[in-house]
Amino acid sequence: MAKKSTQVRTDKTPIELLTRKQAAAEHARLGQEIAGHDKRYYQLDAPTVSDAEYDELRKRYNAIEARFPELRTLESLSLKVGAAPARGFAKIKHAVPMLSLDNAFAEEDVVDFVGRIRRFLRLSEEEPIAFSAEPKIDGLSMSLRYENGELVTAATRGDGQEGEDVTANIRTLKDVPHKLKGRNIPQVTEVRGEVYMTKADFLKLNERQKEAGAQIFANPRNSAAGSLRQKDPSITASRPLGFFAYAWGEISDMPADTQSGMIKWFEHCGFKTNPLTKLVRSVEELIAFHRKIGEQRASLDYDIDGVVYKVDRIDWQERLGFVSRTPRWAIAHKFPAEQATTTLIGIDIQVGRTGALTPVGKLEPVGVGGVIVQNVTLHNEDYIKGIGGDGEPLREGRDIRIGDTVIIQRAGDVIPQVVDVVLDKRPKNAKPYKFPTECPVCGSEAVREHDAETGRLDAVRRCTGGFICKAQAVEHLKLFASRRAFDIDGLGEKQIELFHEKGWLKEPADIFSLERKHRKELLEEEGYGETSVRNLFAAIDARREIALDRVIYALGIRHVGETTALSLARGYGSWQSFHDAALKVAKGDAEAIADMDALDQIGDTVIEAVTDYFKEKRNLAAVERLVKQIKVLDAEKPKTDSKVAGKTVVFTGSLEKFTRDEAKATAERLGAKVSGSVSKKTDYVVAGPGAGSKLAEAQKHGVTVLSEDEWLALIS
Ligand code: IVH
Repeated sequence: MAKKSTQVRTDKTPIELLTRKQAAAEHARLGQEIAGHDKRYYQLDAPTVSDAEYDELRKRYNAIEARFPELRTLESLSLKVGAAPARGFAKIKHAVPMLSLDNAFAEEDVVDFVGRIRRFLRLSEEEPIAFSAEPKIDGLSMSLRYENGELVTAATRGDGQEGEDVTANIRTLKDVPHKLKGRNIPQVTEVRGEVYMTKADFLKLNERQKEAGAQIFANPRNSAAGSLRQKDPSITASRPLGFFAYAWGEISDMPADTQSGMIKWFEHCGFKTNPLTKLVRSVEELIAFHRKIGEQRASLDYDIDGVVYKVDRIDWQERLGFVSRTPRWAIAHKFPAEQATTTLIGIDIQVGRTGALTPVGKLEPVGVGGVIVQNVTLHNEDYIKGIGGDGEPLREGRDIRIGDTVIIQRAGDVIPQVVDVVLDKRPKNAKPYKFPTECPVCGSEAVREHDAETGRLDAVRRCTGGFICKAQAVEHLKLFASRRAFDIDGLGEKQIELFHEKGWLKEPADIFSLERKHRKELLEEEGYGETSVRNLFAAIDARREIALDRVIYALGIRHVGETTALSLARGYGSWQSFHDAALKVAKGDAEAIADMDALDQIGDTVIEAVTDYFKEKRNLAAVERLVKQIKVLDAEKPKTDSKVAGKTVVFTGSLEKFTRDEAKATAERLGAKVSGSVSKKTDYVVAGPGAGSKLAEAQKHGVTVLSEDEWLALIS
């Protein structure tokens, strides 16, 4: 078994020798040091350390958290610096480069691949070669580094030499063990594999994103990438990502001598490996595997774009080595893309609830992989212009014009899109498409805003008409009455469109005066009799008392889906306090913003969306009219008999008796409000070792400071 050298750190106490107390102190110190570097780098543009030195600090910080997970808090995970701009991810240099695979498309390519291996290893035709044949998962490759069995870093592939540090996000995946199972785990183990999202979860996520007015993903791969590259790990945690292990990087002591043995070992360690993986022994079997998986492809619940063949014996892999950036011992046998050529006969602009103008291409109907396709997503304005953003499939520099012959593809087996334009066939009179700058539904101006964080122009053009825009009003009413919001039986999409058309329903509040104002007219409508009308009004009346989280969700604030709404409801408890806080947030009140930021699931994106919503006078008036008609029930009643009920508590420093999440949950269960920042309204600051600025703030405001034991005594 091969032994590889591992890095030795001579300048610092090895993490495994640190006591808990030392680790906590060093963790706090490193956290501060990293935050300082972040500030100098991101805000002041004046870094004082090299990238490599910075990466060392991050690595040690993560390694400490891996050994003492209780030190990990949301604050430490993202290391937020004040109102710093979106921080990028730190870079991690791969100990062993992450390479890619050569492709085979035709069966001859597979014959050649096996022939090359025989010649290289001087094997006779009779000598059998075993291959591990595996599906090629269409996700993102990831390198997970374990030291002494503990996950220390997770890095994306990047350019193959250096990837992005997504450790905090990867820790939220259920398929990624934080600690490797079993005995005799090598001191250094780098496990590599693919992060992916299932097709069903991708569709569900897009549905939720649509409802929340957030970004729509083109395919499961993009949605996995987008979910992973979140600066707030709690967002990644809310996304269903899976991981299949299939390769390795640095390993200090190889636990097996074949690819198939390694895959078994990964399973022992606690990883999922792909169940379709198979050991095969001839070109014929390789090709049969390709055909069989190809037949299964559409029914698998995750996307694959081919199969991979790997020489099973690792000693042979080592002898075969690499040609430039791809191994001689493995190849990807791709599936033909499901593509077709047709004509783009028009472009429709759809307007969504949040005013987003989405272009949909109308096609001369065509069959692609057994499905008739008539519509394609054209994503956004830039995509049509041929300057689409990252990861989008349109051949660069091609603009799309009505009348063009286009090549379409069912990407990820799900949403068809245009991948190329056949320029030779472009009609002479075809003009570049002019994306509307006015809303096609209400005529209001449609604008592209600048993203507050990145300063870049938003990809999406939005109608500024708000409630006066029929499309937005109708889409909002649909959300409002939908199952997870007010859940009004008998008020479905068709009825909403009809009632809006009639002028009876313009905004949510109108639903509750429908009976009083329009009962008679409704009875005259076709299809409505006494019974159905009575049932509808009974269903509406049943919702005059309603849970806070449903109300918040039903407001239709961008990026506020069900989970976020629930977190806001739990955080504020009552409509009044949510409403007051939202108004303050919209005015830029730093304290209110910090409090909202401290809530589970809430970050800058939601805060910005809340600000936009509650800044808008038309929204405020409509909300006002709505709440007059209903009774909003408080979220889970806090226990009022505890000593801390109604008090505001801030936890700071590294807590030793409980994790921060646990502390927060207990406090909230007892009716206290947990805040992220200290103000004169704070009742208690519970400080563990290493508490810094918050302790000083507490002293400044004369807030009671408790040790962990004192806190426990108070709540016992
Ligand atoms: S092995 C040295 N096995 O395909 C080769 N890769 O084109 C290491 N992929 O970057 C990769 N499924 O993201 C391997 N079963 C599998 C795979 C697989 C998907 C991806 C991976 C890699 C890309 C190479």
